[in-house]
Amino acid sequence: PAEDQARVAEIKQLLKVHNAVLVAHYYTDDAIQQLAEETGGCVADSLEMARFGARHDATTLVVAGVRFMGETAKILSPEKRVLMPTLEATCSLDIGCPEKAFSAFCDAHPERTVVVYANTSAAVKARADWVVTSSIAVEVIEYLQARGEKILWAPDKHLGSYIQKKTGADMLMWDGACIVHEEFKAKGIEDLKRLYPEAAVLVHPESPASVVSMADVAGSTSQLIKAAQSLPNDKLIVATDRGIFFKMQQAVPGKILFEAPTAGNGATCRSCAHCPWMAMNALDNLAGALRHGSGEIYIDESLRLRALKPLERMLSFNA
Ligand code: 13P
Ligand code: SF4
Repeated sequence: PAEDQARVAEIKQLLKVHNAVLVAHYYTDDAIQQLAEETGGCVADSLEMARFGARHDATTLVVAGVRFMGETAKILSPEKRVLMPTLEATCSLDIGCPEKAFSAFCDAHPERTVVVYANTSAAVKARADWVVTSSIAVEVIEYLQARGEKILWAPDKHLGSYIQKKTGADMLMWDGACIVHEEFKAKGIEDLKRLYPEAAVLVHPESPASVVSMADVAGSTSQLIKAAQSLPNDKLIVATDRGIFFKMQQAVPGKILFEAPTAGNGATCRSCAHCPWMAMNALDNLAGALRHGSGEIYIDESLRLRALKPLERMLSFNA
């Protein structure tokens, strides 16, 4: 529509004026992902977003995604202004792991190495020894296990049990879940597989174990896009937020992509496989953030320094 084109033109102009770069997650609207691409920003998984923002020489980062992604950018780049289209965009994993209760859990198990998923608040990260994203979680836990460490893991129980199964590590787990991935159903994928036995199954490991067990490849959003390219199958069943289809389809234009069902009968609903918080990012509020400097992330300096340590461990692991 014409008003979208006008917004896009305005945002491109504002990015230049403010020496800003747009860092977008794969689950945001197609228009935002395209804009990030066209303006020299990045469209990426949460680990790559963090790396890109930290290395870029822009003075303002506009992070289109959810709150923890903006906070991570600010923790890594305190000298930069970090703006988000809306600060309301959170994550069920973050909400489900409040700092006070989490600290009490850690206090009760002082002998364990605390590893938290990136999808957490700065305050929860500040309590951790390590932060990991899904693209690096298995390797980090393998490394810690080889050193004989016992793990306290939070907050995603599905990702946690996937890692636990892969590594055999001793992991005590917080009881959190992603409301989007938790809805994928093994029965629905089985039904689709019956219709298309030649299709490969790609799964984000925030999904339940019954769904992950059907995966030909499980991994982060970037890893799933790479797998779509490297697998020989020309049909793919994809169990992650539908926002990924924009870049995945670009990467494999000749392949047929199916949304993994979120209902047992093989049907999907329009709002199920889409994160309601990612969906809060739009061209309008993105332009507004740049125009008014709204949606800025602030983090108390002593908290930032504590959260920085486990994040830096992640970034220098295997770098
Ligand atoms: P990725 O690190 O795979 O991008 O995952 C982030 C996320 O929130 C998935 O739901
Ligand atoms: Fe959080 Fe799930 Fe949304 Fe990712 S898809 S941001 S894990 S609620």
